[in-house]
Amino acid sequence: MFDNELHTMTLSEDGSYTAYSKEYNEHYHSTKDGALHESLVKHVIPALRLKGHQDEINILDICYGLGFNTLATIYYAKKNNITSKINIYSPELDATLVKSLVSFTYPKEFEEFRDIIIELCENGVYDENSCHSDGICSYARTHVEIFLGDAREYIKSFPHGMFDIVYQDAFSPTANPILWTQEYFSDIKNIMKCDGVLTTYSTALATRLALHENGFNIYINSGKGFRDATIASLSELDSFGDAVDMEHKIACNPLAKSLRD
Ligand SMILES: C[S@@+](CC[C@H](N)C(=O)[O-])C[C@H]1O[C@@H](n2cnc3c(N)ncnc32)[C@H](O)[C@@H]1O
Repeated sequence: MFDNELHTMTLSEDGSYTAYSKEYNEHYHSTKDGALHESLVKHVIPALRLKGHQDEINILDICYGLGFNTLATIYYAKKNNITSKINIYSPELDATLVKSLVSFTYPKEFEEFRDIIIELCENGVYDENSCHSDGICSYARTHVEIFLGDAREYIKSFPHGMFDIVYQDAFSPTANPILWTQEYFSDIKNIMKCDGVLTTYSTALATRLALHENGFNIYINSGKGFRDATIASLSELDSFGDAVDMEHKIACNPLAKSLRD
């Protein structure tokens, strides 16, 4: 049984299930945008459009939760013949949640990844090498590691400049502020490549300020069928149009502040 005293499954509007956390009083995904849809359009698609041409892609998935961002990355890479080696590192504080995912109802798009889901629930690691004997790889080679513990500690364990992509998908800044502070994003910046991209559903000015104060350029990720989201990078991203004019935002909102530890 997935449902217990801490979380219950909830149907979201794209037909995929998400969950409601009684501890944080929040859903794991936007029920309006849909769990799978949100994961794809706010995180996976914009990130892999920018980085999917690389031989190897290192992804930090903050935090594992129900595993949608990790699984949607594998799904999207396979569907789009992305042959990059993909390494995903994902912290998750709630070990009981990870174990219980074996009985979570995932969307049909993830059906073929049942073995990955089980391996991750049981061992926290999945390694795939799908190269044939002739050396040709038919789809993404994937390495996934779940770290059971505090994301703030975990992110300090990586070398400088390791990550191409960061999925910033913690509970909201109000519910879980410790994963949205200026100091937190400073640690994230330290482990990102200078042309790395960070994706997040948050459009809060406090979030954008915390990123801006660390030197990130801020872009709006907008599209049909989902609410605006944010893309941030230490480099300029031409494909997202002009960066948000943060100096103007600050001038218009002089009392706005980033969150601090
Ligand atoms: C919004 S959910 C993540 C949803 C996930 N990305 C998905 O696609 O299913 C946030 C997760 O962060 C976890 N969490 C909260 N604080 C944490 C921390 N300090 N370190 C690691 N995980 C944390 C919660 O247990 C929860 O599972």
